[in-house]
Amino acid sequence: MNTHQVRRTALLPIALAVAACADVAHAGNCQLSVEANDMIQFNARALQVDAGCSEVRLTLHHVGKMEAHVLGHDWVLARSADVAGIASAGIAAGFDKGYLPPGDKRILAATRIVGGGESTTITFSTANLVPGGDYSFFCSYPGHTSMMRGRFQLAAKESLAANRAPGQASVGH
Ligand code: CO
Repeated sequence: MNTHQVRRTALLPIALAVAACADVAHAGNCQLSVEANDMIQFNARALQVDAGCSEVRLTLHHVGKMEAHVLGHDWVLARSADVAGIASAGIAAGFDKGYLPPGDKRILAATRIVGGGESTTITFSTANLVPGGDYSFFCSYPGHTSMMRGRFQLAAKESLAANRAPGQASVGH
């Protein structure tokens, strides 16, 4: 086993733990639940939903105590190549815009910013996502993106490991 395989294997249980929250009413895993804390961390480094999901329902829960304007978090989905550009445009947009550039087509999904003790849930379409594509989720709060970032995959559940694309994991750790 090379180091790449070890790393991928280590990430898998995290994704599966999140997947365990899936609604049994759906054919596959189309629901995600993510926690963020006062240590500027998400509780997942990789997230995956089934390629058969037409919509994904995601809940972000800030389990910390810091208020939104002091140390808030959001959850944003984009192509990995677009993360840095969105994050810097988000800082320019400011808190009132949720630290995201309004109407930016590069943003594939995004929650509002939540503070400690708050949750928010969004539902987004996967119509613009390509199975096996290189996507990342991140927090756009200024200074958080490098620490709060991970891979997002739309993949067949039968091949969790096989579908993991080679190359950078982009988890910021
Ligand atoms: Co954050």
